Amino acid sequence: MIKARIIATGSYAPEKVMSNSDLEKIVSTSDEWISERTGIKERRIAGEKQATSDLALEASLKALEYADMKAKELDLIIVATVSGDMLFPSTACILQHRLGAAKAAAFDINAACSGFLYGLSVANSFIRSGQFKKILLVGAETLSRFTDWEDRNTCVLFGDGAGAVILNAVTGDNGILSTHLHADGSMGDLLNLPGGGSRHPASKETLDEKLHFIKMKGNETFKIAVKILENLVTETLKHNDLKPSQLAALIPHQANLRIIQATANRLGLPLDKVVINLDRYGNTSAASIPIALDEAVRTGRIRKDDYLLLEAFGGGLTWASALIRW
Ligand code: UT7
Repeated sequence: MIKARIIATGSYAPEKVMSNSDLEKIVSTSDEWISERTGIKERRIAGEKQATSDLALEASLKALEYADMKAKELDLIIVATVSGDMLFPSTACILQHRLGAAKAAAFDINAACSGFLYGLSVANSFIRSGQFKKILLVGAETLSRFTDWEDRNTCVLFGDGAGAVILNAVTGDNGILSTHLHADGSMGDLLNLPGGGSRHPASKETLDEKLHFIKMKGNETFKIAVKILENLVTETLKHNDLKPSQLAALIPHQANLRIIQATANRLGLPLDKVVINLDRYGNTSAASIPIALDEAVRTGRIRKDDYLLLEAFGGGLTWASALIRW
């Protein structure tokens, strides 16, 4: 039986660090409020000339180096993002060209913060079906470009970054054991970016009304996220006939420390089994899980045969999980 296995990881975060105290100078907020309500201490901001494909490229090169693989060997490139370089072509096509991955098909996935796990599920299916063997999957975002820096409700939350994984077709017990995808479009207005699409094409009015920025009903989203994620992790473990105590690590989407704690509590997992880095990066949407995974892999926190549970919740609404035997 063919399985998809992550054989390499890579990540990249822009150099510029924006701390909570930097934000205190821009909007009416405080390090105390941001730390207590979110767990975030600082985030990275892309340089003036950097776009999402630039971040994706850096993360991808690190993953390819880790795998000792040439871009030419790739069969498919998937980029999960809601902040692509432009509406089209896809960021995956831009990345394919810059990597010189001439053989690879390429497309983007838009599932907001769940994008990386939606991408993992798609990559897993392609590999299991036999259509593709070597897949580069990237979660990359430059959300700072879509942030209203006058809105304290949102500007303290997001950050820029990219994480990449390379999947290969393998046989044996290790690899992706299951993925679980969900959506509820009826709650799409809780978290969206309404301007610049075909509903509200760019115009003076859309600019005046700030429709090109991320809008979020934070508190409502928070409550739904906690409930949904509790059910999602239970569903994922049950499907694999695993107990929480068998997990080596939970790798959650990094939106809010209180949401992460609630999910860990539900599983009865101590926080030292949860990979947390939102204090340093904030919410990087589709990039958050692959960045956290890469850091955990490269610091030796994850070992062969470990069971890992990955989970995310975000705009759409979408939510998704994966169970991996490393
Ligand atoms: O990644 C995709 C999914 N995203 C999420 O899951 C994020 C979900 N939401 C959250 O993480 C939280 O709801 C937030 C961190 C966004 C907000 O935390 P909260 O505990 O839900 O706060 P709140 O929205 O209920 O606001 C409480 C108060 C309000 O003041 P009043 O009305 O009580 O006077 C806000 O105006 O905090 C105020 N506030 C702030 N104060 C200082 C909101 N933002 C700030 C701020 N600094 N940056």
